[in-house]
Amino acid sequence: MSRSGITEAACQPGGAVGAYPIQTPAARYNFDIFNARGVPKEQLNGTPYRYWHAHAIAHIFGKRLSGNVDVLDAGGRDGRTLSLLKGLGLHGTYTCLDLKPTMAVTSDPDFEIETIASAFKDFSPRRCYDAVLFQTSLECVKDYREIAWVTGCLKPRGFVVATLHRRNTRRLYRSYRKEGGLYPRNEGELAPAFAEIGLQVMELFALGGVASRLCQYVTNSGLAYYPQAAFRHTAGRVFPELRHANLMGPVNQVLNPLMARIDRVLHFRPIGHCLLLEPASKNCLAPGV
Ligand SMILES: C[S@@+](CC[C@H](N)C(=O)[O-])C[C@H]1O[C@@H](n2cnc3c(N)ncnc32)[C@H](O)[C@@H]1O
Repeated sequence: MSRSGITEAACQPGGAVGAYPIQTPAARYNFDIFNARGVPKEQLNGTPYRYWHAHAIAHIFGKRLSGNVDVLDAGGRDGRTLSLLKGLGLHGTYTCLDLKPTMAVTSDPDFEIETIASAFKDFSPRRCYDAVLFQTSLECVKDYREIAWVTGCLKPRGFVVATLHRRNTRRLYRSYRKEGGLYPRNEGELAPAFAEIGLQVMELFALGGVASRLCQYVTNSGLAYYPQAAFRHTAGRVFPELRHANLMGPVNQVLNPLMARIDRVLHFRPIGHCLLLEPASKNCLAPGV
């Protein structure tokens, strides 16, 4: 392991660092993601899409990070990524950046925690990171120049992981779209959008197949949407702590792994992607590093 917290494997020939591919790599299904360790339990009973991208993120982090790390969770909201980092046996610093962070944890034996309330466009990094994560937060960003700082705040072997849903998911994301998740992107749009801010797409993991998509539609958008909305507006008003209760959790917990298995056969029509990105220039420009 290198002192920077990045595993040496990532730097070997055939690894991600070195000669950059000229073209965006084709999206591929990689069912090895489901062998990833450290996936936080609460992510397993989310939507089928979350089930997939939580595994993809754990897979990439597990392969590329070790030991002491500096991680920025951009759009990290409640800071739940910290439990993934701890599950992977990492330590170091964890920064949760969000417009409205709700992270309750302020100290941890393994991580120095920093919570920053800021819009992406107003953020200026104070340190360099081994990894920057955008987990379902880039759908809220129309113009990637708002996150152009990311390219300059990565350590020499640092990388970015982002999840993005595809455009044909309108029916799967009613409430998310209302909250600002308005900018999904398809494969062809990714490389040009990230190239504008100096990032290259190194790998593209397709997330969700036909079964997971159908399951997400039925359980999380169609069938369950109205009962959940009714619950929030009735019991949720009387008991505010129940307003964000995941009523579908136990159902998802059973269905998600089942659907992912069926998708081994029906692996097409992905819901979204998990992207691994690296900068073309390797200089961290953050002050004080
Ligand atoms: C769908 S939530 C994802 C939260 C977390 N990453 C997860 O996967 O559970 C998107 C988050 O991005 C944050 N966000 C959206 N647009 C933002 C912006 N322009 N600047 C900073 N944070 C933003 C929101 O406040 C929200 O917490």
